[in-house]
Amino acid sequence: MTDDVLLVHGGTPLEGEIKVRGAKNLVPKAMVAALLGSSPSRLRNVPDIRDVRVVRGLLQLHGVTVRSGDEPGELVLDPSHVESANVADIDAHAGSSRIPILFCGPLLHRLGHAFIPGLGGCDIGGRPVDFHFDVLRRFGATIEKRADGQYLEAPQRLRGCRIRLPYPSVGSTEQVLLTAVLAEGVTELTNAAVEPEIEDLICVLQKMGAMISMDTDRTIRITGVDRLGGYNHRALPDRLEAASWASAALATKGSVFVRGASQREMMTFLNTYRKVGGAFEIGDDGIRFWHPGGPLNAIALETDVHPGFQTDWQQPLVVALTQAAGLSIVHETVYESRLGFTSALNQMGAHIQLYRECLGGTPCRFGQRNFLHSAVVSGPTTLQGAELVIPDLRGGFSYLIAALAAQGTSRVHGIDLINRGYENFLQKLEKLGGKAERP
Ligand code: EPU
Repeated sequence: MTDDVLLVHGGTPLEGEIKVRGAKNLVPKAMVAALLGSSPSRLRNVPDIRDVRVVRGLLQLHGVTVRSGDEPGELVLDPSHVESANVADIDAHAGSSRIPILFCGPLLHRLGHAFIPGLGGCDIGGRPVDFHFDVLRRFGATIEKRADGQYLEAPQRLRGCRIRLPYPSVGSTEQVLLTAVLAEGVTELTNAAVEPEIEDLICVLQKMGAMISMDTDRTIRITGVDRLGGYNHRALPDRLEAASWASAALATKGSVFVRGASQREMMTFLNTYRKVGGAFEIGDDGIRFWHPGGPLNAIALETDVHPGFQTDWQQPLVVALTQAAGLSIVHETVYESRLGFTSALNQMGAHIQLYRECLGGTPCRFGQRNFLHSAVVSGPTTLQGAELVIPDLRGGFSYLIAALAAQGTSRVHGIDLINRGYENFLQKLEKLGGKAERP
């Protein structure tokens, strides 16, 4: 399908300004939170990406009215008439998104039952949902697996409980939050994830009337309330998209002002960017990222949960590391298979070797389990245009960066996947002088 193919002509530095809006990893969850309210909610700074469209459709299937608000990027969500949705419709609509799993708690509160189809998401590891179902059972839900998906019921009002997550999973922490706020009594969650998007979701829930406190040791306490109202909230900016464009500026030897990028949520990325030799200037409205000339530095990098180096920053930055002088070490500790995308970079001329051992300072869950989760990137290497097939969202954007940094033309297949999480990426690319066209 030529529609899904892009010809990228490399060799032109990206120069100019683009804007990032609300975070892909917050906005859909804040939309789900609206289900918990007894009055309408307003969400602002909403990007036009596929994950948002999927959640909008799922909410509508459940009787929530969703309309655009007065300002661009504003959604008004009215949950006054929540109702059961047809199982086949949910299945057909959910597509490849993983967000449906977060409908469980709110639907159990509102309707007493919920249905979750088989889940998609990027193929970057096994991506199980066992923590989610364990959590829901602890609150008192029953779960029955059938051929078409999972059927959940709440025989009585869900009850607060003590939960310790085996790993600080983002989605499971959100599952607890969205379920505990209306459960009876107190929930204590230890080993919680504390990503900025989770804090923003807590802000949304507090605006709705929830009682949530966070301790310094990854413990979150939620006191259930009987009723929640609506919220009015501006989503925090997408620090993952911002870092993707920053890496593109570095790899193409360009200079990009990312309007909307915020220092606070990007501190760890900015430190690493500086170590590699990238330059940045932080303003009130955004951050300018550029390649200052001269060679880039090889670094040792380990991904981790927040406040560590976010796994979603890893793939785009690895492309820039192919241009650094010396051996960089990358240890991916969040997803077991998030380095597979490097084989295509090698076809383009990069020298990246994968290892099963934990090459970072910290042994991780994957070291004993035979996963190729560490990489040594040897640079600098000249990249050549190639035939590329996009494997996942961030890997896909990384291929675009590699194609833009390469000599010659690349044919990139499956570019539609990038629309899941990057708003208007083709227009932005064009605005920055990137040379890309449909065949
Ligand atoms: N995990 C389990 N069991 C579970 C849930 C998670 O073993 O029930 C494991 C996962 O397999 C993984 C680790 O825990 O190894 C972390 O997964 P997590 O639950 O934190 O990830 P997620 O909630 O599914 C979100 C983002 C991801 C981001 C991660 C980590 C959304 C929609 N997705 O995923 O974003 O990488 O947190 O920060 O919020 C992306 O934006 O490209 C992306 C993949």
